[in-house]
This record gives sequence, C-alpha cells and structure tokens, in this order.
Amino acid sequence: MPLAEEITEMSNMSKLFELDSRLKLCADYVRNDTTLADIGTDHAYLPVWLALKSKIKSALACDIRPMPLQSGADNIEKYGCSDVVKTRLSDGLDEIKENEADDIVLAGMGGELIVNIIARTEWLKNHDKHLIMQPMTKAFVLREYLCRNGFDIVEEKACTYGGKNYSVMLAVYDAEERNYPESYYYCGKLEEKDPYVKPYIKQVIKKLNYKAEGKRHCGEKNIAEEKIIDELRNKFGVDEDDNR
Ligand SMILES: C[S@@+](CC[C@H](N)C(=O)[O-])C[C@H]1O[C@@H](n2cnc3c(N)ncnc32)[C@H](O)[C@@H]1O
Repeated sequence: MPLAEEITEMSNMSKLFELDSRLKLCADYVRNDTTLADIGTDHAYLPVWLALKSKIKSALACDIRPMPLQSGADNIEKYGCSDVVKTRLSDGLDEIKENEADDIVLAGMGGELIVNIIARTEWLKNHDKHLIMQPMTKAFVLREYLCRNGFDIVEEKACTYGGKNYSVMLAVYDAEERNYPESYYYCGKLEEKDPYVKPYIKQVIKKLNYKAEGKRHCGEKNIAEEKIIDELRNKFGVDEDDNR
C-alpha cells in the first residue's frame, strides 16, 4: 500500500499542466494519433502534454544539447509517460528516420535555424508529413523559404507570449514553387479575424519601419520596406497612428 504522501505525489504527477500560448497553438495543429518529433524540445512539455491528453501514438523529444534533453527526460519520468515519449539527442532531424515521425514540431527557435534544419532533411518533401513551426525571430525568412521550396503554408495563427507576438504555422510539401509579393512573407496565412493578428502585424510594421528609417538616414531612395508596410496596413486595417 502506498503512503498517503506517495498517493498525493502520484495524483500531482498525473495532473495536466497548462501549455503556454505558443505551444498550445502547436499542440492544436498536431494530428490525433500521430507519431510526433519535437525538435528543440528542451523541457519536453509539448510531447508530455500531448501524451497525457492521449492525443499521440508516440513522440520523440529531441534536442541538440544533453542538458535540456535531461530536463525533458526528467519531465517524461515525472509525468509517467515514458511508454509514449522517448528522448533523442539530435541536431535538427539528423538522427530521426522518415518512418519515425509524421508530425514535426519546430518551436522556440530562430526562423533561420528552422530553415537550416528543414533544408537538410530531404524526407520532409512528402505530403504526408506535417510541419508545425513557431519561429522566435525572422518568420519572414522561414515563410519565404517554405514558399520558394515547395511547401504550402496551409494555416497560420498568432499569439502573444511574454509580451511579444508570435505566429505558429502549419506547412505541407506539395512541390509547387510559389512567388508571392514580398509583403506575403511578413504575414503568411494569418487572417484579419484572428484577435492576435493586429498586435502581431503592428510589431512587424514597427521592425520594418526601423529598417526603412535606417535606409532613409543613409540617403537610399527606393525603400522596399515602405511598400511592404503599406500593403500590410491595407490588408490588416492598421492605421499609421497604431504604430506610434
Ligand atoms: C528556447 S528552447 C525551446 C523549447 C521548446 N521547443 C519551446 O518552444 O518552448 C530551444 C531549444 O532548441 C534547442 N536547439 C537549438 N538548436 C538545435 C538544433 N539544431 N537541433 C535540435 N535542437 C536545437 C536548444 O538546445 C534548446 O533546448
């Protein structure tokens, strides 16, 4: 018979914790009963949460560094889901085989790093694989890479986390190369009706304004950012005053 405090501890372990807003959007895009790879997992909250929800068949919680991976392993053990979630030391998807994951989450890393990881993983060029991405920086670099390299951004949502605005996107390979107007790479599939989109777009415009200002200061004439800002303002109904 377990002691009373052991029973309390056991019930605490099985309690479902909350995911932050970014990871919750990622979790929403994960398909039911899938095989998941969470790249750059760190604490492994996402695969553990999905396992506790019984949403996934299996998960590989992957990280390039042993220390974060150990914190992931500790959580997997703490929440009692080591039958579903395994850890793996891997730089990007280098140590993951094609038949081990159908849904791949790349969250909490820079847009350029995510591009780098996708670009060297040939087996992602498969319509059955779902890429779920949450870039911390340079989302426009990631969107442009996806569009020009045969990945379709199917859906995208915005969220606020730690006082900043982020986007989470779902993309699937269909081999079609897309060349969108430059402003598309700054908003992707985000929709005006999404309540978190306006703050996201305002943040994007603020950064573009900063770049444009620098170019004006250097005497440049044709400033590409000005056109992008105008298009984003028109599309999402953001006034000039909104960015002051
Ligand atoms: C800020 S944490 C993000 C944790 C979690 N995915 C989230 O969004 O909350 C970034 C993690 O990515 C890992 N990482 C960085 N480069 C990586 C790479 N090339 N392959 C796998 N993991 C990487 C880091 O070690 C770190 O644990």
